[in-house]
Amino acid sequence: MPSNAKRITVPTFVGMKAAGQRIAMLTAYDYPTAMRLDAAGVDALLIGDTLAMVVQGQETTLPVSVDQMIYHAEMVARAVRRALVVIDMPFPTFHLGISRTIEIAGRMLKESRCQAVKLEGGAQQADVIAGLVGAGIPVMAHCGLRPQSVHALGGYKVQRDEDRLLQDSLAVEAAGAFAVVLECIPAEVATKISAELKIPTIGIGAGAGCDGQVLVTHDLLGLTIGRTPRFVRKYAELGKATQEAAEAYCADVRAGTFPGPEETLN
Ligand code: KIV
Repeated sequence: MPSNAKRITVPTFVGMKAAGQRIAMLTAYDYPTAMRLDAAGVDALLIGDTLAMVVQGQETTLPVSVDQMIYHAEMVARAVRRALVVIDMPFPTFHLGISRTIEIAGRMLKESRCQAVKLEGGAQQADVIAGLVGAGIPVMAHCGLRPQSVHALGGYKVQRDEDRLLQDSLAVEAAGAFAVVLECIPAEVATKISAELKIPTIGIGAGAGCDGQVLVTHDLLGLTIGRTPRFVRKYAELGKATQEAAEAYCADVRAGTFPGPEETLN
């Protein structure tokens, strides 16, 4: 991607659907990774609340705080030249009444320098989305499997209620969301929703019929500890490579072969 590539804004992101351009989105949590992903031409970077699981080692996304999200998002936003940068609103920051929600989302954008927030929810969150959009805060919605509701849903399960999924997606679009993530839903339902909506749908475990795709970068790079979902395609094995590099370093130090003459200052 040329270093002078034009910045993706919320309107240009939305326009990609009309132009028939598939959207590639990934998560990012730190400066060097964000810089590489941006240079690779990823269209949007999400500081997801998966930060809790893949970086902090928590069991769910629930424990991550607003301050921690801002801390990581600020590093990502500083690295990016082209991609749209979106920050997740952590649980339960958008369930606190509209004025408190606007206050928190506003702080997240001001301090992190991201361009938009993402929040989980469908028709039930339509008023919150409309309130944020009315305050000039672009919102990406997130329907289907909502990991912040893992306890209420009874686990990370495929969501199959077609009517509800369609109603939720239409409701967030009507409320002013500029895009919607569809997580863990049958591919044919996601394809139908994508055809119904004017705003882009970004799938994760939702098949190829969405307008774009998002993955957790640690999953794609093979850095996630433990099991990754079936819908992930691993493009690298950096976890294994990291461990092997550290093992080689330990062996060299213990054998007295590091540092060698070329790494020694005279
Ligand atoms: O938090 C996150 O990383 C997400 C993606 C899985 C879409 O919401």
